[in-house]
Amino acid sequence: MPPTHTQVFAIDPSRPDPAVIAVAAETLRRGGLVAFPTETVYGLGANATDSAAVSRIFEAKGRPASDPLIVHIAALETLASVARDLPPLAHTLASAFWPGPLTLVLPRHASIPANVSAGMPTVAVRMPRHPVALALIRAAGLPIAAPSANTFTRPSATTAKHVYEDLGGRIDIILDGGAAPIGLESTVLDLTGETPVVLRPGGVTLEQLEAYISEIQVRPRFLSTDTAATSPGQALRHYAPRAPMILFTGSDPRRILARMRSVAAMLNDRSQRVGILAADEERGAFADLDAAIVSLGSLADLGEIGANLFARIREIDALGVESILVRAFEREGLGIAIWDRLVRAAEGRIIEVD
Ligand code: TXA
Ligand code: MG
Repeated sequence: MPPTHTQVFAIDPSRPDPAVIAVAAETLRRGGLVAFPTETVYGLGANATDSAAVSRIFEAKGRPASDPLIVHIAALETLASVARDLPPLAHTLASAFWPGPLTLVLPRHASIPANVSAGMPTVAVRMPRHPVALALIRAAGLPIAAPSANTFTRPSATTAKHVYEDLGGRIDIILDGGAAPIGLESTVLDLTGETPVVLRPGGVTLEQLEAYISEIQVRPRFLSTDTAATSPGQALRHYAPRAPMILFTGSDPRRILARMRSVAAMLNDRSQRVGILAADEERGAFADLDAAIVSLGSLADLGEIGANLFARIREIDALGVESILVRAFEREGLGIAIWDRLVRAAEGRIIEVD
C-alpha cells in the first residue's frame, strides 16, 4: 500500500476535544483509518458499513481476511441495525456489561458487509466504555469495525506509541488518549449456538458472566495447558514478541522460580541474552543472573499485571534479548485472560514444573 501521512492528536480521555473528534469522525466517514483508545486496547477503526474501508484495515495490519473484526457501537439502539434475530440473552448481557469489555457474536445484519466477518453469517459487536471511543463513534454516526491496532501477530497496542510503531505511515489518524486502562482485549462470547461459548477470555471475567448465564461453554485450553487452537483469530501464533518466549507453570512458585533460574543460567552458558518478565515481588530471585529483568506488576494485583502485560512484552523485546522467560499467574478472574495471552505469546512453549 502507498505510504500515508499519519497524524497523531493528543486527546484528554476525560474530556475529549469535540474539534479533534470531528476531524477523526470525518476521516472515518470518508473511508479512512483512525486508531483510537478503548478501555481494553487501542482499536484500528473504519466505517463498518463500507467494505472498501474495511479491507483497508486488513491491508494496514497485514491481517488475513479469514480473521473477523469486531463492530463497535455507541448506543444500544444501534445493535438491531448491525445484528439480527437477537436472543433475549443478548439484551440481558448488553444491559449488564455495556458499555464495557464484552463482545457478543450474533447473526449478522445485511447492513454489515461480509468482509467484516471473514464471510461468516455472524458479527461480533461491542460497546466500548472509553469516552474517546464513544465520542468518536457517536460523531461518526456509524458502526465502527476495529481490531486491535497492532500489526498481525504482534502484541496488542495499549498506547498510541505502540500504534505508531506498528502502523505509522499506514493509517490516517491516531488519537492519543494515554494508556488503555484494562490492557487486555474484550471477552468474546458466541450467542449463536445452543449454549453460549467463550471464544476469547478477556476484560469481563467468567465469574461475572456466570451471574447471568446458567450454562456457559469454555474451551479447556483457557484453563489448562492443552493449547489446541480453536476459533477464527485464535491461532496460537499471536501476540508474539520477536524473541521466543518460554512460559513456566506449576503449583509451587518457589519451584517455578528455581526452574526459571536454571534455564536462564543454561541460556547464559550458551551466551544468549536472556530477558525475564517478573512480578515486583520476585525480581530479587533473578538479581544475580546475567539477565534483563522487566517488572509486570504486583502479584497481589492481577489487574495491574493485565494492564502492563502487552506493554512490557514489547519493552523487553525492544531490549534485543534472545529469549524471554515468564511465569504463569493464578488462573482465576482476569488471570484466565492473562494465561491465554501468555500461552499465545509463548506460541505453546510451556514448561510444567512439578
Ligand atoms: O477489546 C477488544 O476486543 C479490542 C478493542 C479494539 O475493541 N478489539 C480486538 O479485536 O481485540 P481483534 O480483531 O484483535 O480481535 C477480535 C477477535 C477475533 O480475533 C475473533 O477471534 C473474534 O474477535 N471474532 C470477531 N468476529 C467474530 C465472529 N463473527 N465470530 C467469531 N469470532 C469473532
Ligand atoms: Mg488483535
